[in-house]
Amino acid sequence: MNETNFLDHRRKLLERMEEGVAIVTSAPPQTRSNDTEYAYRQNSDFYYLSGFTEDNSVLILIKTSESTKVLLFVEPDNAEHALWNGARLGIEGAKSTFRVDEVYDIAEYSRMIPELLREHIHLYIDLYSDSPHLSEAKRAAHSLHSTRGIKRHIRSIIDITYLIRRLRLIKSDKEIQEITHAITITAEAHHEAMRTCRAGMREFQLQACMSYVFLNNGAVSEAYGAIVAGGNNANTLHYIDNRDELKDGDLVLIDAACEWNLYASDITRTFPINGKFSNAQREVYEKVLNVQLRVIEAIKPGVKRDWLQKYSEELLCDALIDLGILSGERNVLMDAKEHKKYAPHGIGHWMGLDVHDPCPYVDEVGEALAFEAGMVMTIEPGLYFRTDDESVPERYRGIGIRIEDNILVTESGYENLSSMIAKTVEEIEKMCRK
Ligand code: GLY
Ligand code: MN
Ligand code: MN
Repeated sequence: MNETNFLDHRRKLLERMEEGVAIVTSAPPQTRSNDTEYAYRQNSDFYYLSGFTEDNSVLILIKTSESTKVLLFVEPDNAEHALWNGARLGIEGAKSTFRVDEVYDIAEYSRMIPELLREHIHLYIDLYSDSPHLSEAKRAAHSLHSTRGIKRHIRSIIDITYLIRRLRLIKSDKEIQEITHAITITAEAHHEAMRTCRAGMREFQLQACMSYVFLNNGAVSEAYGAIVAGGNNANTLHYIDNRDELKDGDLVLIDAACEWNLYASDITRTFPINGKFSNAQREVYEKVLNVQLRVIEAIKPGVKRDWLQKYSEELLCDALIDLGILSGERNVLMDAKEHKKYAPHGIGHWMGLDVHDPCPYVDEVGEALAFEAGMVMTIEPGLYFRTDDESVPERYRGIGIRIEDNILVTESGYENLSSMIAKTVEEIEKMCRK
């Protein structure tokens, strides 16, 4: 992404705003344990509008009937910070890098905010953020309210995240390129895991081989905590311990992916630890794969996620009947939510700057949004049969399978952005060949 892309995002937001002031703040650094922090990760909304990746910064967009103006407040570079943490871009650096109208020292924010809010009616902020900069803006608005000689006051505070996230829903070509780059590295990491996997290894060793591929390709961050779940561990949906031994004859489910320039990928593959599916594993795998392929094929503009969810549940319910795990009339089983025990999670979610992109699923009046070209969604059906679940035929117990790809909605239908990753039984067994 370059500055023009971020400028374009700001322009679109300004077009959708009423006259007023919008304030978007950077993410706070997060302490991991005493005196040590997690690697800094920018607030996705802030990054979407600014491209700026440093902390303690604030972006302000001002719209009047005559003009628009964008101000960025940043930490100046200083020797102490440079010594411990490296150089900051600083005010001059930010001025020359980012195509905003004005750049100021963040220390000026408190002094300037009352003036910036003066004579405005609408204030756009993240209503649910506890950023001290936003509290300060609200206090400034309050005190302006009781200041004589001011004709117009802030009298509407609007949640800006909805506006930004409506925009984030439709990815530009450049954003698709970032996501595709993340997926390309993730694809290589999944293939490396398939090639490397041996019975007797520990789950974290497979994770390590994927991390190596991520880092070796410059993807310095995972998009989420990796799940490497051998055997029955796959039936714990958010299993992240990744410490157990990988056993001959079991499957391993890997839900792991990297981030590229803050854009996520989100991929799951399930494969046999010894490289060859057993008959029972293959039967379940083919069912999940069939559901995944059919759901993906149904994606096109106009389709709604709610419909896709229902469709996927019908297909999973049919699969459970075919496998002899449920019996009876599909609709009756679905009404009783019998399938949910074995297929408990949703079919997918928006993906972008956040792995679970917080873009809306419904419009302003609560109607489900229809797919449009440029939206990116994961499709990730799964079936999960715990070892201790006596409602399942013994041969299927301990099998947990999820298959997840990242799908772009296009004008004519869809594009599977992760189609290069081995997925059929044959492709996987070939990739796993020892
Ligand atoms: N990796 C998280 C998810 O699949 O939603
Ligand atoms: Mn996902
Ligand atoms: Mn996932």
